[in-house]
Amino acid sequence: KVVAVIMVGGPTKGTRFRPLSFNTPKPLIPLAGQPMIHHPISACKKIPNLAQIFLIGFYEEREFALYVSSISNELRIPVRYLKEDKPHGSAGALYYFRDRIMEEKPSHVFLLNCDVCCSFPLQHILDAHRRYGGIGTMLVIKVSAEAASQFGELIADPETKELLHYTEKPETFVSDLINCGVYVFTSDIFKAIEGVYNQMRETCEFSSLMAYLKRIALFFFDFILNLAASNYNHFQYATRSVPADFVRLDQDILSPLAGKKQLYTYENKDFWEQIKTPGKSLKCSDMYLSQFRETSPHLLASGDGTNKKPMIVGDVYIHPSVKLHPTAKIGPNVSISANVRVGPGVRLINCIILDDVEIKDNAVVINSIIGWKSSIGRWSRVQASGDDNERLGITILGEAVTVEDEVAVIGSIVLQNKTLNASVQDDIIL
Ligand code: GDD
Repeated sequence: KVVAVIMVGGPTKGTRFRPLSFNTPKPLIPLAGQPMIHHPISACKKIPNLAQIFLIGFYEEREFALYVSSISNELRIPVRYLKEDKPHGSAGALYYFRDRIMEEKPSHVFLLNCDVCCSFPLQHILDAHRRYGGIGTMLVIKVSAEAASQFGELIADPETKELLHYTEKPETFVSDLINCGVYVFTSDIFKAIEGVYNQMRETCEFSSLMAYLKRIALFFFDFILNLAASNYNHFQYATRSVPADFVRLDQDILSPLAGKKQLYTYENKDFWEQIKTPGKSLKCSDMYLSQFRETSPHLLASGDGTNKKPMIVGDVYIHPSVKLHPTAKIGPNVSISANVRVGPGVRLINCIILDDVEIKDNAVVINSIIGWKSSIGRWSRVQASGDDNERLGITILGEAVTVEDEVAVIGSIVLQNKTLNASVQDDIIL
């Protein structure tokens, strides 16, 4: 038996996803027509003998309740949301729920970050892990040397694939091989985390003892002891700058275990991207849509402008409830969620349209994300400034934004419930 854990973080994370993440947790924002977290969950579903999937986060339970019950029914596999009382860090959160995770005595635990987009080759990682031994195997990928510094950089033995060295987001270049945020572990991972907790406790006890001794001895040896204590404090700040009950998987576990024949790597040859900004989510939506072309072509729309069906270009997802005028032209890379209405002559390119949006006659939407219940007027234009796909380049409309007729919204971010009756460019509308 195996189980999977997906780390979903909480409301203090995902702030770069505003205004979309104001009312919807980032892991539930749709990519390719499905919540972000749906993609790793459906990859987990394919692992033989998967007993349960746990989502661990510090969002309120009610925010995940509906999704968790509908996905459990749909996939016929128990998906549970486990809420931390406060953030414990990526390894601390796993340890906090160790009894729940190990309830069914799984032989292996998969651990996935919720904000990565890839084909999740989980069975391959598990097979490789069984060959290597050790307590864990992580998915790694080569990226450009410039991009590598945003991730955990690592060195692996080219023959044995052992993780030899690991540094999280280093300031100076270490390697173009990086951590993808997808792992498989044996139950020994909990012992490793416990080891770090014990060390931290000892450090705390040692530091209170030092403080006590300092107070007594100040009386006699003020100068000498102050010197020793200040050295000790310096050491403490240099090694940890986070609360004592917060354990990060990367810095606190992977780094010290590297080079000890405990951790191994499996190189990903397929697509991989991290999803930290809305611009990245457009790119990831595109990657998942092209994956659908291979794995689930029935999810992609088709049409050539005849037989009362609109013209579809490239990979496009359209929810079955969408009302689409046959003279609209859609794609490539467009996902349209439930109950959207698209009027005559509308043109949509490289965009995500969320539930209940209305796009009126002859409007154009390019390189943008349109929030739930928004409305785009006749002959209006919503697009990025230039070709830049990054955060400020693309246009994002928050929930329930109204763009009136003949208005252009270019390279702007518009907060929820705003009405735009004049054109804006490269602006943030609060
Ligand atoms: N439940 C919970 N509690 N989840 C958390 C917590 C916490 O306290 N802290 C972080 N997470 C979740 C995040 O939601 C995310 O899914 C994952 O843990 C990792 O988040 P971070 O620790 O913020 O790291 P990161 O995303 O900047 O970088 C990590 O992932 C990269 C791959 O995307 C690192 O492991 C990098 O080395 C790696 O390259």
